[in-house]
Amino acid sequence: MTLSMKLDRLLAKHDSMGRNRARELVVARRVTVDGVPVLRIDLEVDRFSRVAVDGIEIRPAERLIHLMLHKPVGVVSATRDAEHRTVIDLIEDPDRESLHLVGRLDRNTTGLVLLTNDGRWSKRLMDPSSKVPKVYRVATRDPIPESAIQAFAEGFHFHTENLTTLPAELEILSSHEARLTLHEGRYHQVKRMFHRIGNRVTSLHRESIGGLSLPEDLAPGAWRALTDREIAGF
Ligand code: URA
Repeated sequence: MTLSMKLDRLLAKHDSMGRNRARELVVARRVTVDGVPVLRIDLEVDRFSRVAVDGIEIRPAERLIHLMLHKPVGVVSATRDAEHRTVIDLIEDPDRESLHLVGRLDRNTTGLVLLTNDGRWSKRLMDPSSKVPKVYRVATRDPIPESAIQAFAEGFHFHTENLTTLPAELEILSSHEARLTLHEGRYHQVKRMFHRIGNRVTSLHRESIGGLSLPEDLAPGAWRALTDREIAGF
């Protein structure tokens, strides 16, 4: 599968001309796809389509990509790795090398990962001041005591970084399972927090980032493009 999008969306993103202007250009027959004038603004185009306005081609590099991926166990959150498969290896798209990760997951963590080549978008999302909530499903080696709820809400001092973690919401789901909401993303943060209460994380899964949840029908290893509404949600 390659990333495809509707023609009006591609044009709208180009030079931020907006969808109305994009429609006007199509109606005026100023837009061609693979050399042929098009009249359908909802035509699906992909990386291989040569889209031009007034004969001037819109280069693929100008196409912004935003996608979500269900990271499986064993795949690394990196763009390159000498030993292991990376999230980029899972994406079949000629422009995949242009992508970067919006927040990493450990190799043995599963769940929602966002990738993009839109630096402004990822910067906004990663900015500590935006405090985008990230929700994790956690399984642990030992039972999780009720007292953990308060401890996670108060935060833990991490000596290496000399910081105290922001208040986090812990919801205990069963003796060995919890849902944890963080508003930041420190190195191995969930594992380190559970370590601080003398427990150990045995499995970790990211369910959501901001308002975006991993869809149930997106299998481990699968990915899809974000919709305009999902992109604008951050
Ligand atoms: N916290 C962790 O410890 N690991 C992850 O992969 C994500 C958050």
